[in-house]
Amino acid sequence: MEIIAGVKEMRRRSEQLRMERKTIAFVPTMGYLHEGHLSLMQEGRKMGDVLAISIFVNPTQFGPGEDYERYPRDMKRDLQLAREVGVDIVFTPSTQEMYPPEFQTSVEVEKVTKNLCGISRPHHFRGVTTVVAKLFNIVKPHLALFGQKDYQQLATIKRMMEDLNMDIEIIGLPTVRETDGLAMSSRNTYLKSKERKAAQSLYRSLCRGEELFHQGEKSAAAILQEIRGIIEAEQLTQIDYAKICNPQTLEDIEEIEDEGVIALAVKIGKTRLIDNLILKEE
Ligand code: PAJ
Repeated sequence: MEIIAGVKEMRRRSEQLRMERKTIAFVPTMGYLHEGHLSLMQEGRKMGDVLAISIFVNPTQFGPGEDYERYPRDMKRDLQLAREVGVDIVFTPSTQEMYPPEFQTSVEVEKVTKNLCGISRPHHFRGVTTVVAKLFNIVKPHLALFGQKDYQQLATIKRMMEDLNMDIEIIGLPTVRETDGLAMSSRNTYLKSKERKAAQSLYRSLCRGEELFHQGEKSAAAILQEIRGIIEAEQLTQIDYAKICNPQTLEDIEEIEDEGVIALAVKIGKTRLIDNLILKEE
């Protein structure tokens, strides 16, 4: 497994692989790898001749007062896990090289970023699209894999690809969960044991929402009332949002016609968790 920190070196390596007609699959991450990340890598392993990942905790996608400094980091363990899933190249750029002092350009996707996380984290997606665009320019992949766990992020990146005519296939893969349903996240490590129990209410409420939908309930308000009830029954939870949206535009919907996405963001203690579930007529 190659570990490459320099931007120039990474670009050169990718160029070489492309000359050799190798298909490059790419999984960008912020590290502290878990089964969710690894599932993307396993799929990438199958789809590409070469599997590259990046590990970079991107400062521009964190707001003031968010957890950038305390975001969990463990490079040694991450490299070991990457090796075990058969990653070929790990790109680990430095913050200084990604964002030199004169840095001043950003990529902004306007509409799909406005609702949901865009309300309480207004600059978050600009940070995500900017760093992903940079990583794509450096790693030059043919395909890139993202998790549906971060549904709005995936929708935003797909929009950016279309709008800027970027020639990379974007693959979205299902959310990997703990046995009790909690969506895997690097941030789960923040949860104390009582908080960890309260966190189960997110997926439980999503499943109840899905059940109501399949029983014929099409009113978003009715489903959301039940969902809120389940989450609020846990003392440690504070709902940031619970919404049902159009899965493409992410605008709120009142009646679910053919499909919708239930999207949640819930604070448990200091930890903010997100989750979602797609509702679709069977
Ligand atoms: P990070 O949170 O490390 O996630 C990296 C990738 O793993 C993302 O595509 C995310 O959706 C996916 N992922 C996380 N948890 C998952 C789960 N439980 N099941 C399936 N996939 C999961 O998302 C980011 O980093 C950053 O915003 C990044 C795109 C790297 C830009 O900085």
